[in-house]
Parts: sequence; C-alpha cells; structure tokens
Amino acid sequence: MCGIVGYIGFRSVSDVLLEGLHRLEYRGYDSAGIAVMQEDHIAVRKRAGRVNELSQAVKLHPVESKVGIGHTRWATHGETTDENSHPHLGGNGEVAIVHNGVIENYDSLRNQLMEMGYVFKSQTDTEVVAHLIAHHLAEQTRLDSEEPCVATCLRAIELTLDRLKGTFGICALFQSCPETIIAARSGSPLVIGVGKDEFFLASDASPLIGYTSDVVYLADNEIAVLEPNSMKIAHRTTGSVQPSIQTLDQVSADIELGDFPHYMLKEIFEQPQSIANALRGRFDDGEGTAVIGGLNLTAQQLRTIDRVVLTACGTSWHAGLVGEYLLEEFARLPTEVEYASELRYRNPPITDRTLVFSITQSGETADTLAAMRECKRKGHPTLAICNVVGSTIAREADGGIYLHAGPEIGVASTKAFTSQVTVLTLLALYLGRMRHLSYPAGKRIIKQLKMMPEKIEEALKCHEQVQEIADKYSQFNNFLYLGRLYNFPVALEGALKLKEISYIHAEGYPAAEMKHGPIALVDEQTPSFFIVPRGGIQPKVISNMEEVKARKGPVIAVATEGDREVERIADDVITVPDVEDYLQPLVCSIPLQLFSYHVALLRGCNVDRPRNLAKSVTVE
Ligand code: AGP
Ligand code: GLU
Repeated sequence: MCGIVGYIGFRSVSDVLLEGLHRLEYRGYDSAGIAVMQEDHIAVRKRAGRVNELSQAVKLHPVESKVGIGHTRWATHGETTDENSHPHLGGNGEVAIVHNGVIENYDSLRNQLMEMGYVFKSQTDTEVVAHLIAHHLAEQTRLDSEEPCVATCLRAIELTLDRLKGTFGICALFQSCPETIIAARSGSPLVIGVGKDEFFLASDASPLIGYTSDVVYLADNEIAVLEPNSMKIAHRTTGSVQPSIQTLDQVSADIELGDFPHYMLKEIFEQPQSIANALRGRFDDGEGTAVIGGLNLTAQQLRTIDRVVLTACGTSWHAGLVGEYLLEEFARLPTEVEYASELRYRNPPITDRTLVFSITQSGETADTLAAMRECKRKGHPTLAICNVVGSTIAREADGGIYLHAGPEIGVASTKAFTSQVTVLTLLALYLGRMRHLSYPAGKRIIKQLKMMPEKIEEALKCHEQVQEIADKYSQFNNFLYLGRLYNFPVALEGALKLKEISYIHAEGYPAAEMKHGPIALVDEQTPSFFIVPRGGIQPKVISNMEEVKARKGPVIAVATEGDREVERIADDVITVPDVEDYLQPLVCSIPLQLFSYHVALLRGCNVDRPRNLAKSVTVE
C-alpha cells in the first residue's frame, strides 16, 4: 500500500515529488510527505491528509533542490498524524527514509534503540528503520574514522536490513552524501525510471510517465544506489546485478481523468474498450478456440492437467469464482477458487497435474504473491492473470495472460473485473477445446465473445435509469445481493462495491441460499438486488424474488430487456442486453458498478479514495 517516490537529477525536486505523489495517491492517502536534500541538512515537510494539503504546506514553506524522496501513507502502525507521516528522520537527522510495508519485529528493535538513547517521535514501525540506519552509520563511521561516504551509507543500510523482519520497500537520503539515494526492497514494489542524468524511483510506473519510458524493476533483496549519473544495483547475497532496462508503453492520457469527474466512472465507461483489448488477437476462428500465448506450457502438458486452482483476493477472487464455473462447464476441469490469504498458510493437495493461476489486477497483492510463491516452492507451475505489466507477480509467474485493461486508478475495481472474466472465458474455451468441447460449441463461444464490447456499450445505456434508482435507495443501510449460477459471483461483487465505496452493509448470497438464513433480514428497510436475467434457471430466481416480496422486502432487479414477469414483481428494474448465461457476469456487473458509484456520490463519499482502503494491498 502507500506510494513511494524519489528523484535525483537536474529538475526542481519538490515539483517532481509532489506530482509523483498525486499520481500515486490512489495507493494510500492517509498522509503525505517529502524529504529534500539541502546544503547542510535534510528538510522534511509532511502532513496528515491528502497530497493537496502537503502541496499547500510546501507552498507556504518551500524547499528546493535536485534530490529528494516522498511518500503517501496507508497507516499500519500508528494513527494518521503529522508525526506518523513519512519521511522519518534517524538519529539527529543524518538520514531520512520512506517505507512501504510492515516491520514485524519493530517492538523489540524500538526497545533496544530507546535503551541506546534514540528518541522516537512517532508510533510507526518505520521510525525504527530510520534510527537503526543512523545507528549503523555512526558505528561504521567510528570504525572507518572518516566522514561517511556512499560505501559507508550502503553498509549501514545492509546491516539494518539484516535485522529487519517483515516486508519493505525503502528509500533513504543521507546528510553526508547529498548526491545519493539508496533504495532497497523485500516484498514491496519499487521501480526505477532511467533518464539522461536523472533517475526516478516509485512504487509503480505512474510517476514516471511523461519523463521516461525506460524502467528497471527492482527485485526482492536488491539494493540500488542512485547518483545523478550512475545507477548501481546489487543483490544482498549474490552481489552486483546487471540492470535489465525495460520499456513502458503507457502514455499520460491513460492516467488522466479526461472529462470524467472520477476515475471509477471513467473506468466503468472504458469497459467496451478494455474488453475489446482483452479479446484482441486471441481468437483462432479456424480451430474454434482461443489463442493464449503466454502460458509457457506445451499443449501436451496442458492436456495432462486434471485440476485448476485459482487464487486471488477481493474482486479478483470474485472473477475467479466465475472462472470456476466456466472451467468446469467448458473444460470439465475440477476447479477450486482459494482466497490467497488462506492458501498461503494451508497445505491443500496440489499435484503435478494441478495448474495454479493467481488472478490480480495490480500484480502486487501481498497475499496473492505469497500464495503464488508457496505453490512455486512446492514445484508447481504458477501462472498469472494480471493487469499491470512488470508487476512482481507478472515477473515471478512462470507464465500467464495479461488483461491489457490499461491503468485502473479507482480503488474500487471495475474494468479489471470484467477483463478478468473475459480472459477466464478465453482460458476455459482454450482448455475446453483441448478436451471435451466440440468445434461448433467453440465457434459459438467465439461468436458470442466477439459481440461483448458492443453488448457492454448497450448495457451502459442504463446509466440514467440507475441514477434514478440510486436516488430512491441511497438512504437504506442494508442491502442483499442475490443471484444464482454465473450471477452468484456478480451478487458478491455488487455487494462488495456498495460496501467499499458507500459504506453500506451489503451481503451477496446465492439467491436460493437466502431462505437458509439471510431471509431473516428481509423487511421494508432491507432492499434486495436480484440479478435475474433470462436463461438457465431464471424461474427459480423469480420464485426467490416472490419470497422476498411476500415479506415486504423492496426488490430491485437486473433483468433482460422486455422481461414482463420480472417487471411485474420487482419494484424497480434495470435492463441489460440479452447474452448467453456464461456472459451474463459481464453485462450484469455494469448496473451494479454504476449503482454503487451513484449511491456513494449521494452519500457524500469519496468514490475514488474510500476510507481505510488502498488500491494495492502490499501488506499482509
Ligand atoms: C476491489 O474493488 C478491491 N479494492 C479489492 O478487493 C481488490 O480486488 C483486491 O485487493 C485484489 O487486488 P488485486 O486484483 O490487485 O490483486
Ligand atoms: N508501516 C508503515 C506505517 O504505518 C508504512 C505503511 C505504508 O506502507 O504506507 O507508517
């Protein structure tokens, strides 16, 4: 969580850092701060609150130079106060650091440092790292009996890292080496932007866009020493590393709002395009199958697979659940969807013939990464369905499929979900055609998939209608979301969207399970959202709707255009275009995303930056 930014070069550092923090703010937004190298000291400006507040503070008390680091925080240890904001100074200001992650043994380190006389100004776990570096720096300087140089600072960092347990991405400035930034990572992402006579550092590539497209992704246990004209990277145990420079293909427009008031709305409306991107080049019409290039497994290997495990968190887990239904139906492959946070500590029987897929938008989710590594440790091929190119999971996976959805900035995932479902449909088609699925069935799926961008465009026409319904229901405090088969994951996802951005209690349930418990919640004050498009077992879901109506529960239905029966029972109906059952999650998600967006607005919530959340959860 949190965003780290750093700069060394010839530009005005405050401007670069503040702009970078604005672009990273979606990752964490409790507080923000910068540390800027001055001639004889390191100046810090930091504030609890948004980056805008920090910008105001910097305007009032400007600091300028060409070297600095910055941070936007998602608090794990200590409240969101000015003191707890990063950067933190170590010793008497000899070192400043920003940190992403959690130091698990901070308590004992803090006690040891306090006994040595170090004075703590914050409640964070991070401050121990700052003092520990200062301590080792003083120790090394005494040993060398000289002024600290870059090598001494580096040694102080290495000695500090040896004592830390937990996860971190760290950037440090040293008073004694004003032309140097040292960065290290273990578990939290860091990317270096390589310019001419300048370097950038950031938690993800967004602050680099417009400055450079050459990047180096720092790997775990690597330390980078940046000076205006040099970049040295070393692995903590194996020594010097030849940096591999990769090219970013993002452009500024991808991360700009354009005419939209919020990223979430922009991303909802991008779905016809993002789904088209997920499908592009991935059909083999002649064979009636999908083209999935990056799995790095032969067709023969794939044919021997007898089980699939999909692991993910949050919305990506919901996409995984759609994937389970798809893979079992099209490929007849027994599939399990596992919460990554559970899988990482469990020991389920995964054999040589099990294919493990991590599904993740960011490619940085700590639990998903750990689950993937756990499976890898046991020798299983690990694959990823991922959006962010160059992310840790994308790099560490043995193979995988990119979503090509473009940057998703809104904390509430929208377009990534529909792209994940699209890619999982392609995967199920691909594996299905290697097994039981017939050529005509494959051709039919391709035909339907090709129509999806257009169908999503049509589904988006419900916007105004949803706005009116949101107006009517925005003051209710409990909602049920109910659907069956392919629409059960949609119900879970609809409820999650409402919870995370509107702070309304909502539960997603298989519609028929409702009578085994949640029906007790139904009354005039608890609306139920039924996802009830035509097809499959729709009559059964209609009966569930009747059961809710019989208990005076208000019913909002997402239904197929022109469905008179649903119109007769439901209080309000939102219509979506007619598609085959397995594609219903794509069209039915649209009104639910829009509903949560408008309810959040009506309740005065911050749609793109909901409280307590952050975009990529890089802590456990
Ligand atoms: C989605 O709206 C949430 N913010 C969250 O559940 C998210 O899907 C989850 O943290 C997983 O993220 P990932 O896809 O980047 O791994
Ligand atoms: N654990 C640190 C803190 O609470 C860093 C959190 C973050 O990654 O933003 O300040």
